[in-house]
Amino acid sequence: MKKQVILAAICLTTVSIFYTSCKKKDTTTTPTPAANAPAGPTLYTRVGGTTMVQDPKAPAGTMIEKGRLTLRSVVDSAIYVIAADASINGYFTVLLQEVTAGNTTGFAALSENFTDFLCGATGATNSAYLYGGKSMKDAHDPAYTNRITQKVDNADFTQFVNDIGTALAKNGVTTSNNAQLVTDLVALLNTTRSTIVQR
Ligand code: HEM
Repeated sequence: MKKQVILAAICLTTVSIFYTSCKKKDTTTTPTPAANAPAGPTLYTRVGGTTMVQDPKAPAGTMIEKGRLTLRSVVDSAIYVIAADASINGYFTVLLQEVTAGNTTGFAALSENFTDFLCGATGATNSAYLYGGKSMKDAHDPAYTNRITQKVDNADFTQFVNDIGTALAKNGVTTSNNAQLVTDLVALLNTTRSTIVQR
C-alpha cells in the first residue's frame, strides 16, 4: 500500500498539470445546499467565491474561481490522506490499482467530480463547475459502479469525513483558526450520510 500511496502522490502532480475545469456539465444531479442553510454568504463565498485568480496548476493566464480552487485543493489533499488511510482505502482498490499501473484517468475524474460536487453543494453557480455524474446513492453502490469495492458503513463514513478534516487543515482551515467554517463544511458532508451509508 505504501508504494500505491507514493504513486498516487506522483500521479496527483501529473494529473494536476492536465487538470481542466471548464466543461459544461449536465446539472440534473447537482446537489443543492441544505434547505436549512443559514442566511448570509454561502459556503462557496466563504471559501473564496467567484473572485478569479490564476490557477496555480495551469499555464499563466488560466483563471479559476477562488472558491473552486480552495475546494479542489482540499479534494486533492483528501485523496492523498484517504489513499494513506488503511482503515478506509480498501474501498478505493480500483483507483489505487489503476494508479499503480500508471493509469491516471480515474484519478483525474474523481478529483474533478468530487470538486464539482462540492462546488454545487456549497453554492457555486458557474455551470462549468457543477456535478453531472451519478447520484450519490449509485456512486457508492457496487451494483451501479465498479469503482467502489463494497457499500459504505457508518463508521467508515465518519472516518472519511475525519480525513477531509485533515485535508482542510493541510490547506490552512482548522478548528483553531476557523471553527465555524470547519463545522459548516462537516455538516454539509454529513447531509449525504444517510444516502451514502448503505450497509
Ligand atoms: C462525505 C461524503 C461523500 C461525498 C460527497 C462523496 C462524493 C463522491 C463523488 C462525487 C464521487 C465520484 C462519483 C462519480 O464520478 O460517478 C465519489 C466516488 C467514490 N466514493 Fe465517495 N463521497 C463521499 C463519501 C464516501 C465515503 C465515506 C467513501 C468510503 C469510505 C467513499 C468512497 C468512494 C469511492 C470508492 C468512489 C469511487 C472512486 C473512483 O472513482 O475510483 N465516498 N464519491
